[in-house]
Amino acid sequence: MTERLEHTQISRAAEFIKQGRLVAFPTETVYGLGADATNPTAVKKVYQAKGRPSDNPLIVHVHSFEQVKTYAAIPNEYVAQLVAKFWPGPLTLILPIKSGALDPCVTGGLKTAAFRMPNNQATLDLIKAAGVPLVGPSANTSGKPSPTTADHVLHDLDGKIAAVLDDGPTKVGVESTVLDMSVIPAVILRPGAITRTQLLTVLPDVLDNKHHVSQDEVPKAPGMKYRHYAPEADVIIVKNRQDFDAAIQWALAQNTEVGLLATDEVLLHQDQIRFKAQFSLGNSVTTASQHLFDGLRYFDLHPEVKIILAQGFEPKDLGVAYMNRLEKAAGSHYFNN
Ligand code: TXA
Ligand code: MG
Repeated sequence: MTERLEHTQISRAAEFIKQGRLVAFPTETVYGLGADATNPTAVKKVYQAKGRPSDNPLIVHVHSFEQVKTYAAIPNEYVAQLVAKFWPGPLTLILPIKSGALDPCVTGGLKTAAFRMPNNQATLDLIKAAGVPLVGPSANTSGKPSPTTADHVLHDLDGKIAAVLDDGPTKVGVESTVLDMSVIPAVILRPGAITRTQLLTVLPDVLDNKHHVSQDEVPKAPGMKYRHYAPEADVIIVKNRQDFDAAIQWALAQNTEVGLLATDEVLLHQDQIRFKAQFSLGNSVTTASQHLFDGLRYFDLHPEVKIILAQGFEPKDLGVAYMNRLEKAAGSHYFNN
């Protein structure tokens, strides 16, 4: 049985980590699956519990920039400026590591590693109490939507991990921006809540992964090549909300139950009776990002739904991260009028 712990029980959670056991922890983005980053036996349990391919490296979660310096070489003066501006927060920095400082099971054998200081007090307290940084991939079964509540974590991992530290639903809802600072100019390997525009207030130049990696090259963030976030039903993106009526007509003609994942504005406009399965994304790209993974998981509880029509947003600012995750869930399948 996996224990559900609260903020007052940090010392118990830290005890589990010191014993080499797994504890899921809250962050502002999604829940992470924590283990002692300095204990290879514990780290290997993370891959096992998630069913994650072992060539996909993990983020090392720290409580301070000082803790990063134990493991990483700081390649330029911009790193400290990014940390000052965006930590704690949803920005992961890829940095060159000091030789032998981290086991290859953390880094996937790369000469770099990913570091992040999450903006969640319970987890920062846990990292301090454990006395070691925590590896932390999202605490879901590999391929499933990332967990944004402790219930999601337990749905996927109950019985496989010692505990989940429950701090309620996460605020951002999509995973951190991953920024490769080991190259010049820096490259965004995964879009997140810290946008390119925000990064350009510190850095002279920032490239997007899609401009950087050619099709047949090995992807730089190894995790990006795997199928992700996929519910059982087919997800189809409806790019513009004025296309919903046509999309619904088409979907109903497929003679199957149709699910709607859309803003209140779109949902209120529809006939409630025909759509037993619908999930609200709220009223903006911010609330949509918060609720996206919860929504994708919701439809797995309704196996009669075979097609999910999901609302698209303009791919700018937070919309870049939202559309990145939704496109993965949909296998880039768009409704064409
Ligand atoms: O918001 C988040 O980042 C969440 C919370 C729990 O902190 N964590 C998370 O971890 O999303 P994960 O393991 O699901 O995603 C980490 C991403 C993967 O795409 C991985 O391939 C990439 O970061 N990554 C890790 N180390 C890397 C490295 N040295 N070079 C390039 N990419 C790396
Ligand atoms: Mg993940």
